[in-house]
Amino acid sequence: MVYKAQDMSIAAVIGFGTMGLGIAQNFAEGGLSVHVVDRDADALTRGLTQIRANLAIGQEQGVVDDPDTIHARITGFTWDEFEAATVGIQLAVETVPEVMDIKKEVFARLDKLPPDVLIGSNTSSFTVSQMTGDMTTADRVVGLHYFNPAHLIPAVEIHHGSKTSEDAITQMIAIMTRVGKVPIRVRKEIPGFIINRLTGALEREIDLLLDQGVVTPEDLDAAVKASLGFRLACIGPMEAEDFIGLDTAYRVSNNVFKDLSNATKASPELGEKVERGELGIKSGRGWYDYSQTTTEEVFAARDRKLLQQLALYKSNTPRTPKAED
Ligand SMILES: NC(=O)c1ccc[n+]([C@@H]2O[C@H](COP(=O)([O-])OP(=O)(O)OC[C@H]3O[C@@H](n4cnc5c(N)ncnc54)[C@H](O)[C@@H]3O)[C@@H](O)[C@H]2O)c1
Repeated sequence: MVYKAQDMSIAAVIGFGTMGLGIAQNFAEGGLSVHVVDRDADALTRGLTQIRANLAIGQEQGVVDDPDTIHARITGFTWDEFEAATVGIQLAVETVPEVMDIKKEVFARLDKLPPDVLIGSNTSSFTVSQMTGDMTTADRVVGLHYFNPAHLIPAVEIHHGSKTSEDAITQMIAIMTRVGKVPIRVRKEIPGFIINRLTGALEREIDLLLDQGVVTPEDLDAAVKASLGFRLACIGPMEAEDFIGLDTAYRVSNNVFKDLSNATKASPELGEKVERGELGIKSGRGWYDYSQTTTEEVFAARDRKLLQQLALYKSNTPRTPKAED
C-alpha cells in the first residue's frame, strides 16, 4: 500500500476559489494541516477571510468548538511557492478552473510530486483520463467531485481514470471518510459522473419550463424546495419510487418522458445573462438581485440553513436495505 489515509496529516489544495476554500475548511476541520495554493494572492486573502466567517457560523450553530485552532491549520501559498507548499504533503487536491489547459498545467506539476502523494481532482465535467493523459503517474489520480459549499455538503463522488489504481481509490475513499465526507463510488468513467448528469437533466427541463412561460423562477424554486428537494434530503429517488409504487412510476414515466426537453445546449436566456455579467451572488445579480445585501450575509444565511439540514441528515442514516438483502 503506497498511500496511507490513516497517516495523512498535511494536504495541499491547489486553487483557492469557491470550491478550494470549502475543501480546505473540511480538511482543517478533519484535523489536517492544509497548504492552500492560488495563482492570485487576493484569492488567498479572500478565502481565508471567508473560512473565518464560515467557522463563526459553525460555532454559532454549535458544530465548531475552536475556530481559531481550525483556521490556524490553513496556510496560504502563491503558485510561485508551489515547491514550498508541497513539502511533506501526503495528499494534493486540485480545484483550479474547469479549463483543460489550466488542469493540464497543474497536473504536469503534480506529476513531479513524490510517489507517495495521492492526488485528487475536483473537476465537474472532465474525465480523469482526459486530464491525466500526459502524466507518468496517472495511476495516483482520483476524481473527487465535491458539492458547493464543500465544507457542508456531505457527498463526494469518487471517480477514476483508466490508469487509476485500486489502492489510490481505496485510500481516497478512506481519507474522505476520515474527514467526515460521504464518498460515493462512480463505477464507470463517464462525463458528469452521477450527480452532474442528474442536475443537467433537471436544468434542461427547467430551461424548457421557463422558456415556455410555464412557471416563474421564484415559483419554480418554491415548488422544488417544497416537494422534490424536501423529500430528496431524506428519501432517495429509488426509495421514493418504492413509496410511489413501481407500477405507477412506470406508467407516469411512459406518459411524461416523450414530452420532456431533449435540448443539447444550455438555454439562450442563461447565455444572455452570462453575457450581461449577471453571474449570481459573485456579481450581485443572477436569477435574483443581491445588490441590497453583502456576500457575507448571503453565505451566512445559506450556511445556517444547511447546518440545520446537516444535523437532520446525520440523524437519518443508515441507508435503506437493498431488495436482495
Ligand atoms: N463552483 C462549484 O459549484 C463547483 C462544484 C463542484 C466542482 N467544481 C469544480 O471545481 C473547480 C474549481 O471551481 P471553482 O468554482 O472553485 O472556481 P473558482 O474560479 O472560484 O476558483 C478557482 C481558483 O483557482 C485559481 N487558479 C487558477 N489557475 C491556477 C493555477 N494554475 N494554480 C493555482 N490556482 C489557480 C484561481 O485564481 C481561483 O482562485 C472546477 O474544476 C469546477 O468545475 C465547482
